[in-house]
Amino acid sequence: MSASWFRALLYKLMCVTSAGLLAAFGTAGCKDATSPPAPVAAATSAPAFAAPAEVTPASYQAAKYDPIHFKPAIEQATDQQCLACHAEVLKPSVRKASPAGLEAAAAKAWYQRISTYEGEQDTLHRRHLETPYAKQVMNLRCTTCHQGSDPRDQAPGSSATAQADLTLRKTVKPEATCLMCHGQMNWPVMGLPGPWAEFKEPFQNNCVVACHTVQRTVRHQVNYLNAQAIEELAAKTDGGDVCFGCHGGRAWYRVAYPYPRHPWPDMPDDVPEWAKNRPTKSEARFIAVANPAGEKQ
Ligand code: HEC
Ligand code: HEC
Ligand code: HEC
Ligand code: HEC
Repeated sequence: MSASWFRALLYKLMCVTSAGLLAAFGTAGCKDATSPPAPVAAATSAPAFAAPAEVTPASYQAAKYDPIHFKPAIEQATDQQCLACHAEVLKPSVRKASPAGLEAAAAKAWYQRISTYEGEQDTLHRRHLETPYAKQVMNLRCTTCHQGSDPRDQAPGSSATAQADLTLRKTVKPEATCLMCHGQMNWPVMGLPGPWAEFKEPFQNNCVVACHTVQRTVRHQVNYLNAQAIEELAAKTDGGDVCFGCHGGRAWYRVAYPYPRHPWPDMPDDVPEWAKNRPTKSEARFIAVANPAGEKQ
């Protein structure tokens, strides 16, 4: 069964069943219900699709199935294109108090106690894209996390034929994105005597001076991190919190991310057992060349 045939069918079905939604959206869409928006040919240089910045989508369904949500178009999408329809994700929208009455201003979670944390409670999107600290150390884009948005149910095990490796419809792969900055610190492979929280004092809470000026010095050459700013901040007092923040200090997971192991000057020839299966390069889509200027689009 070809995917495009399936999508056409799905599109037709959606059009038939969602007359109410369409009415709410204003214009009558789905005029040609047999053909969903044509998939975009793999763009080599400039995105081949029209930027929707000033465009009002023909219908809610057309917007939902906009080719920009799918590969390959999403790989070329700019934040501006996504924000043309999803501006609300960057609006401050934290409740003043939880439904149970706990004031947001009075609540601080464990991951907010690291010294780099500043300001009032904010949303997940804003903490990664808008807050001053996020902008200083990172250069995340919508598509760093979202590799598509498939309106179909993607939860694994929801039907007898569901694939095992499906992520939810926002198509964010936690094990390939979130885990990079929210995994455990792999202190045993670093030869540390124990977890960083217990042993940071002997190292003056600094990751660089004693170790990372010689070890694994080729790091962070990816389009979603500001490598130089990270090193500058990490050189300051308690700079260990900068590094540890992304390498154990905000760990949602019990596992560590298996970072690529870029060769560094004076790297010993023998590869330790734990590193034998590690890649030696960052994931291709993150390598700076893919976004030459390294700037927000
Ligand atoms: C033409 C308008 C439009 C553009 C451009 C657009 N979207 Fe969407 N998006 C929608 C609509 C409409 C939906 C469907 C919402 C629904 O039915 O829940 C949607 C759904 C989504 C969802 C799933 C929402 C949920 O609650 O499950 C995500 C994530 C998403 N879009 C991300 C993106 C990203 C990232 C981009 C840029 C690459 C983008 N969108 C571009 C209109 C758009
Ligand atoms: C740090 C990774 C990350 C980045 C960067 C990111 N998102 Fe998301 N986004 C998520 C996650 C995770 C969710 C699911 C949140 C939830 O279910 O509560 C989500 C949810 C959404 C949704 C569904 C509505 C909602 O608020 O839950 C939309 C739409 C969306 N993102 C659009 C965008 C757009 C547009 C951008 C770029 C401006 C963007 N995202 C950048 C991780 C990210
Ligand atoms: C490139 C590194 C990076 C990636 C990838 C990343 N995060 Fe984060 N995340 C951070 C940093 C840095 C902070 C702390 C921001 C601050 O303190 O202002 C943070 C904070 C958070 C917070 C706390 C927000 C708050 O209000 O305190 C949550 C929740 C979170 N991340 C979830 C996620 C999820 C889910 C993903 C994957 C979709 C993800 N992160 C991907 C770096 C990252
Ligand atoms: C904003 C989050 C963030 C901060 C801050 C951060 N890192 Fe990283 N670090 C990452 C991510 C993400 C990767 C994986 C990059 C890749 O795939 O190449 C990484 C990779 C690494 C690697 C693997 C290098 C290799 O061989 O590719 C080392 C070592 C490392 N970081 C050390 C540090 C040190 C030391 C600091 C403080 C000076 C630090 N990190 C600060 C997110 C962060």
